[in-house]
Amino acid sequence: MMHRAAGFGRGLKPWIIALLVLLLLTVVAVAIGLLTHFLVSGQKMEYYHSTFKISDLRINSNSGQSSPYQLKDLRAMSENLVDDIFIDSALNKHYIKNQVVRLTPEEDAATVDVIMVFQFPSAEPRTVRKRKIRSILNEKIRNTRALSINTSSVEVNAMSSSTGKLTVQACCGKRVVPLIVNRIISGETAARAAWPWQASLQHNNVHQCGATLISNTWLATAAHCFKDKANPRQWTVSFGTTINPPLMKRNIRRIVVHERYRSPAKEYDIAVVQFSPRVTFTDNIRRVCLPEASASFQPNSTVYITGFGALVYGGESQNNLREAKVKIISDDVCKQPHVYGDDIKFGMFCAGYLEGNYDACRGDSGGPLVGKDFKDTWYLIGIVSWGDDCGQKNKPGVYTKVSYYRNWITSKTGL
Ligand code: ARG
Repeated sequence: MMHRAAGFGRGLKPWIIALLVLLLLTVVAVAIGLLTHFLVSGQKMEYYHSTFKISDLRINSNSGQSSPYQLKDLRAMSENLVDDIFIDSALNKHYIKNQVVRLTPEEDAATVDVIMVFQFPSAEPRTVRKRKIRSILNEKIRNTRALSINTSSVEVNAMSSSTGKLTVQACCGKRVVPLIVNRIISGETAARAAWPWQASLQHNNVHQCGATLISNTWLATAAHCFKDKANPRQWTVSFGTTINPPLMKRNIRRIVVHERYRSPAKEYDIAVVQFSPRVTFTDNIRRVCLPEASASFQPNSTVYITGFGALVYGGESQNNLREAKVKIISDDVCKQPHVYGDDIKFGMFCAGYLEGNYDACRGDSGGPLVGKDFKDTWYLIGIVSWGDDCGQKNKPGVYTKVSYYRNWITSKTGL
């Protein structure tokens, strides 16, 4: 061994050895560099924003109002279209997903704002990619039969990944934990982040009412919560599934009670409340979607109520958020004399069970009754308003019908 080694060494000058070592080090360094480039920067998501206009829609035709079902259809159709376009393109391997973040209906048309997410391995300049994405969109849109889209209306812009991520997250009614519940009165404790739009409204730091996050600065709640307690300075709002400790707390700046609410009458039991500073949406704090004014929800459909309210009539508010699965009850059923008769007025609806048991109770007022659509997007359908006792036979919960007040909400909040 030693002899051969000496022989090998004799043929090579020290400077050659040094050069070889240097060469080897360079190769290793370049390999590491390339590897990290592909592993790290290759994993980075790139966000692009596109706007296009769909024309020749007759969504506003007969009723004079666009129906939410058709608008929702349009959202799903647009998302499917963009999916089809990129899955069927040269960018197929890099395309991750798209999300419609805004649909602006106009007469016979709608402008669609969509965020597209891609993942590219190479460090090609974004302007080049932007051009590629736009040309694919343009070409395929020209060939679609399903929707009539003006190709000159197609715009594509790169977004920073932080804005892209935030915008995708900021969209309403999405939650990160799956619905496992099902099983307030007779409900169950809620899982963390299960109902990220739930808030607790506190008067001098004592929980009074529930509320629902409808933007990063506005809550929807019940008007009766502010009866004799109208000073915003005495109110705070907290988020999270426990009141103590709260996940986040904010001061109330403005309380806008429906101008036609007159206690003890129960009509117009709605208020919007603005807090500051605004919140940043996370998995645990996020807004719900508001239904269109023309939306209607079928009797017997399954919805969920959540709150920190009492477990029995006359009981105490709870520190842990609870949830219960209930069903929407038709007006015909709820207006029967042995149920609530003529006490059910416009802008109200009943939910729960005539057998009783599952219900909201004191302290749940102002809180959400939500339902999800076929895309698992959650909508605020009702606001806990009133009921005779809690969980009693033939006395289900009565809720403020959010769709009935949809335009009022817009007039106060711009949402
Ligand atoms: N008004 C009550 C409150 O102030 C809640 C009423 C809900 N009652 C019912 N049985 N669903 O918290």
